[in-house]
Amino acid sequence: MKPNGGHILLLWFLVYSGRAEAIEPISTSIAVGVAAALTGFLASYQNIFYYFHECCRPEWISLNKSGLQTDLENKLFGQHIASDIIFKAVKGFMSNENPNKPLVLSLHGWTGTGKNFVSKLIADNIYKEGMDSKYVHMFTSTLHFPHPSQNALYKAQLQKWIKGNVSNCERSMFIFDEMDKMQPGLIDSIKPYLDYYVKLDGVSYRKSIFIFLSNAGGDSIIQTALDFWKAGRDREEIKLRDLETSLSLSVFNNKESGFFRTSLIDKHMVDFFVPFLPLEYKHIVQCTMAEMRNRDRKPDQDVADMVARDLVYFPKSERVFSVKGCKTIETKLDYYT
Ligand SMILES: *[C@@H]1O[C@H](CO)[C@@H](O)[C@H](O)[C@H]1NC(C)=O
Ligand SMILES: *[C@@H]1O[C@H](CO)[C@@H](O)[C@H](O)[C@H]1NC(C)=O
Repeated sequence: MKPNGGHILLLWFLVYSGRAEAIEPISTSIAVGVAAALTGFLASYQNIFYYFHECCRPEWISLNKSGLQTDLENKLFGQHIASDIIFKAVKGFMSNENPNKPLVLSLHGWTGTGKNFVSKLIADNIYKEGMDSKYVHMFTSTLHFPHPSQNALYKAQLQKWIKGNVSNCERSMFIFDEMDKMQPGLIDSIKPYLDYYVKLDGVSYRKSIFIFLSNAGGDSIIQTALDFWKAGRDREEIKLRDLETSLSLSVFNNKESGFFRTSLIDKHMVDFFVPFLPLEYKHIVQCTMAEMRNRDRKPDQDVADMVARDLVYFPKSERVFSVKGCKTIETKLDYYT
């Protein structure tokens, strides 16, 4: 309800009737009118408050489906599998009023392939405040959990944070960056939250989103992409099933994956393992053009070619994939223009 003339009139009436009280007692109907005015006023005041202060309500948190779709199409390059899974998973989850578990996505791939970027696109299209939302939490292993000796403390802290934040808002999002640098076992401490519980200590986690980012499994993705390339097959022919099994196995059995032997994987708590393919020359050009548009400049193919040519590609002889993906193009672009 927006404040309107009616409320102001009633408010005026409230003041006026207060003065009139000296002359004659307020009749019941007037009292009811006053009460209604007060309630109406308070309700609109609250709505004004919600309008300006981020809160855990659909006005601030709801999926922009077309926004996510166009962002994935226009801003993420060379990731047909990831783009497809993410859109379907997020759309399905957010349109379900009563999900039976939180959405858990594990994004895998080499540096610069777009894992962080995709997390940002998801946040941007769910939270009005995007990554700045107070309901979006990012944990970086080397920053938040740097010392192996403190593992017990980290576990307790992490549980407390997640519980505290989800108690504040069911539609919270947690992003764990650098999973491969996380101490094995730490992630197991949040396992109960990812499960199919209706409530845990009075808190329901079923509307939250958990996203894990890691390089683990990157090698097996690269191998598959390279096999396709060598066989002269189109990259778009690579299907999730070509990667999914080897991906979850290599993550599970890799001591450095942060998921080493974790029951998160053998209990199927991760809904989707999302592979990010290594990027080719043409994708670097696309990223560079997009970055120019992002800076409100006319995209210049020659500059984009210069930037792309300057990067290092592997394998050494064939030079198919960019070593750092699209990661360093921002600084390269500064250099060339
Ligand atoms: C959803 O995203 C589209 C495309 O980015 C944008 O034009 C539109 O304003 C957004 N809608 C809302 C409700 O934010
Ligand atoms: C929410 O998480 C952040 C870390 O992102 C933490 O600093 C904060 O204390 C948590 N809030 C609650 C209420 O637990």
